[in-house]
Amino acid sequence: MRSPVLNVMGNAALKAARGLIRDFGEVEQLQVSIKGPGDFVSAADLKADRTIKAELKRARPGYALLFEESGAEAGSDARHRWIVDPLDGTTNFLHGIPHFAISIALERDGEIVAGVIYEPIRDEMYWAEKGLGAYVNDRRLRVSARRQLGDAVIGTGIPFGGHADHPAYLDTLTAVMRGTSGVRRMGSAALDLAYVAAGRYDGFWEFGLAPWDIAAGILLVREAGGYISDMTGGHEMLTTGDVLAANDHLHLPLGALIKEALRGGRAAR
Ligand code: IPD
Ligand code: CA
Ligand code: CA
Repeated sequence: MRSPVLNVMGNAALKAARGLIRDFGEVEQLQVSIKGPGDFVSAADLKADRTIKAELKRARPGYALLFEESGAEAGSDARHRWIVDPLDGTTNFLHGIPHFAISIALERDGEIVAGVIYEPIRDEMYWAEKGLGAYVNDRRLRVSARRQLGDAVIGTGIPFGGHADHPAYLDTLTAVMRGTSGVRRMGSAALDLAYVAAGRYDGFWEFGLAPWDIAAGILLVREAGGYISDMTGGHEMLTTGDVLAANDHLHLPLGALIKEALRGGRAAR
């Protein structure tokens, strides 16, 4: 049984996803055009943002908003806030790679209490409510049971362009490559966290994410029995943007590996 508010979130995601799927079909055609699909994808992203906002506002008019594309809005209800990424995995979408999602989270009194991550191409709706577990469609999710880092497959996000500290990231990547059975970079942080919740990944780390990338995923991981923190082991993920998620056997050793790599790398440079 999903609660009314979760139905609102799921329906908003489904409605925006219909547009994204249509637009994704166009994008595949536009790969070969000289101009490329850039402007078209920005328009698709904005359209999804507008659709979700209209649906959420209609159902809960007073809630505050934090949307990636249209920014923040205060609401008359100071306790509640929607945190939304209308298209997570934009680079994949732009390149015709079918791995992207919509992420919608609800925060109450500063705590994430409901989240949905919808993957339109596979028609997979990941959802979680605080205290009620995590699901994909109608199936209950559990994080993996692996206990050895050597057996683990770990997801990550590789920094690109911009001002990220690329050498520091490479130090962490080298350590995780050496210590595990493989690293994946699929291009949607929201889905990466959903994959940890589903036990597909045994862990995940990334630096410098935005609140809309991770808000729904944080709850999914927790409700699937996993552990999620920032890099210091604290819970300031939405502020720092740094995320470390895993099942509870692997969270500590994975965190130690990454922290040690950061320390060692700094000392060597
Ligand atoms: C991006 C994706 C990606 C992560 C980037 C995010 P966007 O979000 O989640 O996996 O590595 O840091 O910005 O731009 O596709 O919404
Ligand atoms: Ca994103
Ligand atoms: Ca986005």
